[in-house]
Amino acid sequence: MPKIIVLPHEELCPDGAVLSAEAGETVLDVALKNGIEIEHACEKSCACTTCHVIIREGFDSLDESDELEDDMLDKAWGLEPESRLGCQAKVTDEDLVVEIPKYTLNHAAEDH
Ligand code: FES
Repeated sequence: MPKIIVLPHEELCPDGAVLSAEAGETVLDVALKNGIEIEHACEKSCACTTCHVIIREGFDSLDESDELEDDMLDKAWGLEPESRLGCQAKVTDEDLVVEIPKYTLNHAAEDH
């Protein structure tokens, strides 16, 4: 069974976590199932950026993002080459190391 190693995130997961996943599950669903409350403002329909995660290891094992996802990601806070929308990135049989960005766009907006 593949694992998702979540790097520490101040609010959502201060000590980091190691989650077991099943191939075909999305990174977001695995996190939510394990009590890591990544936001998902559009209810996983690829229409927001609040579920943005960065895949630090294992990025290439994921299906490529489609155009819609890339368009959304362009608007994400702290975009990186290995950014994905958590609700669109499906685990395969490889382990992943995932970082949850410090802010989502919603938060970033509130801070200003
Ligand atoms: S929850 Fe909105 S794009 Fe993933």
